Amino acid sequence: MPRPHLLLALLLPIVLAGCGEPEDTRPGQPVAHRRAAFNKILKAFEPMGVQLRDGHYDADKFVTQSRQLADLADSPWPYFAADTHYPPTRAKAAVWSEAERFEKARQDFLHATKALVAAADSRNAEQVKQAYDAVHGSCRNCHKAFKD
Ligand code: HEC
Repeated sequence: MPRPHLLLALLLPIVLAGCGEPEDTRPGQPVAHRRAAFNKILKAFEPMGVQLRDGHYDADKFVTQSRQLADLADSPWPYFAADTHYPPTRAKAAVWSEAERFEKARQDFLHATKALVAAADSRNAEQVKQAYDAVHGSCRNCHKAFKD
């Protein structure tokens, strides 16, 4: 018998994989690709927030991190083609039915991300914090309208 924690380590991936989400089986897997792109964006974005909240603003690090986010900012959008609203997506139908609003939310995010890079270059903690909050607001606004 494996020891209990080993057993758990063996079983956990199976449990997680079995959460009942259908796999993205479409050619090119657009849903899986855009979700992976958003997860990368989150991974780049979160450490900046942690740094600011903990009061450990590191200007050099922030310059690098803001650019990492900017490099990823364009990545999810090509995967929102017209016929890609199907399980396991969490995108709302409004992404396609209110395409202009979605495009506006996307532009807001791209502008906020550029402004964050500029703020990082300023090395001014207050500007950086405001710019970070603006990016955060742009994620949230879009999710409220377009993501379940
Ligand atoms: C213009 C709209 C928009 C913006 C801006 C946006 N998102 Fe999203 N996001 C979406 C949509 C739509 C989905 C759902 C995608 C799907 O399931 O097909 C999503 C999904 C996600 C997911 C879930 C991925 C998964 O595994 O299901 C994460 C994490 C995420 N976004 C993080 C972020 C972060 C962090 C930001 C800002 C730094 C951001 N998003 C900005 C629209 C947006």
